[in-house]
Amino acid sequence: MKLIIKNIKKLVQVEDNPKLKVSGKDMAKVESIDNAYLVMENGIIDDFGAMDNFPLKEIDNSEVKVIDASGKMVFPSFADSHTHLVYAGSREIEYIDKIRGLSYEEIAKRGGGILNSSQRLNDASEDELYEQALQRVNEIMLQGTGAVEIKSGYGLNPEAELKMLRVVKRLKETTHLQIKSNFLGAHAVPANYKGRQTEYVDLIINEMIPRVAAEDLADFIDVFCDTGFFTVEETERILMAGMKYGLRAKIHANELANSGGIQVGVKYNALSVDHLEYVEEPEIQALLGSETMPTILPGAAFFLGLKYSPARTMIDAGLPIAIASDFNPGSSPSGNMKFMQSLGCINYKLLPEEVVNATTINTAYAMGLSDKLGSIAKGKIANVFITKEIPTIEFFPYSYASDLIDTVILNGKHVYKKGEAVDIFSSL
Ligand code: NIG
Ligand code: FE
Repeated sequence: MKLIIKNIKKLVQVEDNPKLKVSGKDMAKVESIDNAYLVMENGIIDDFGAMDNFPLKEIDNSEVKVIDASGKMVFPSFADSHTHLVYAGSREIEYIDKIRGLSYEEIAKRGGGILNSSQRLNDASEDELYEQALQRVNEIMLQGTGAVEIKSGYGLNPEAELKMLRVVKRLKETTHLQIKSNFLGAHAVPANYKGRQTEYVDLIINEMIPRVAAEDLADFIDVFCDTGFFTVEETERILMAGMKYGLRAKIHANELANSGGIQVGVKYNALSVDHLEYVEEPEIQALLGSETMPTILPGAAFFLGLKYSPARTMIDAGLPIAIASDFNPGSSPSGNMKFMQSLGCINYKLLPEEVVNATTINTAYAMGLSDKLGSIAKGKIANVFITKEIPTIEFFPYSYASDLIDTVILNGKHVYKKGEAVDIFSSL
């Protein structure tokens, strides 16, 4: 089956020689073709170019579908490389605590935060969790996300962590997004291990990791390496145990303090280190020349009122930056990657082209998928979206609360056309 988009006002982020990630000054470059076409065949990007060279002037084959995108742009789908979107219920009551001035750590100390979600998750059945998570996946799909990483970490005991990862596995099997799963048993110390943190780390290493690996439930391993959560030494033990089973590290680092998390991530060749509010020169030096993708989570910093990661300084030093949503009930209750782009521009002083690269090719890299996704290149998986009529690329993050996505295409064949507003009284 062939799907062709023609008369595209701008085909954004095309690559003739695909790169696995984009760093430093290159982050401000996005190649595009005006008045373009895109051919997708059997789920793969087959061809693209300017309409002057449109190969199929006469299309009379019932196996070919053509979409006219006059006035509209086509972008590669977002890759969201850091989410916790399998969770039970919500935490808007803590939102009130936050408004009244309590910090994330204070809320956590009172049994709120991750432990609150853990209680709800332990009480929920696998089917309930799946249904809730599926709704969130469908929501982000219509917001332009075509690939997503999902973490465990609200179970905090072997059964419930496995339950979460089985839900992720079902989402992999039943949705059209590309999904990667990440085992985050070390998200917090559960209430019944209070004061016995080392024993909980032992439980992760001796029981959880082997069981997760035996059922092949995770692609990655994660640790919340930060003050008040897990230490650098505990992080090392957990990463080494995971790596024995082939789980590559992607870790939470330097959100609440200069915790040493970035250095330990680089030491164990983590695919990414995420959050990074606390970054100084030694952290930048550790990241330069490494294979680890520095990932910022602007939604969490916005929602918690944290200081902003010095992303501008990092790019100017030659580093790549990825931007993910951190979609979770406590610190970022949204997986809207277009809004993350807007926050990247406004709060981190990144250019529109930089946030395009940060939310596509660099997040695809942070999921180990940038050879297959994250740009418009021949042979890549055909996950793209068509915008509404917009004047420029810059307009996309600029109009920060407008829904500018018109059509979502996954695997070159699943086409989700978004509805127009309808005045119900006019049809009565
Ligand atoms: O990435 N920082 C740690 N974990 C999550 C928050 C999870 C929660 O509060 O439920 C984060 O922000
Ligand atoms: Fe997170």
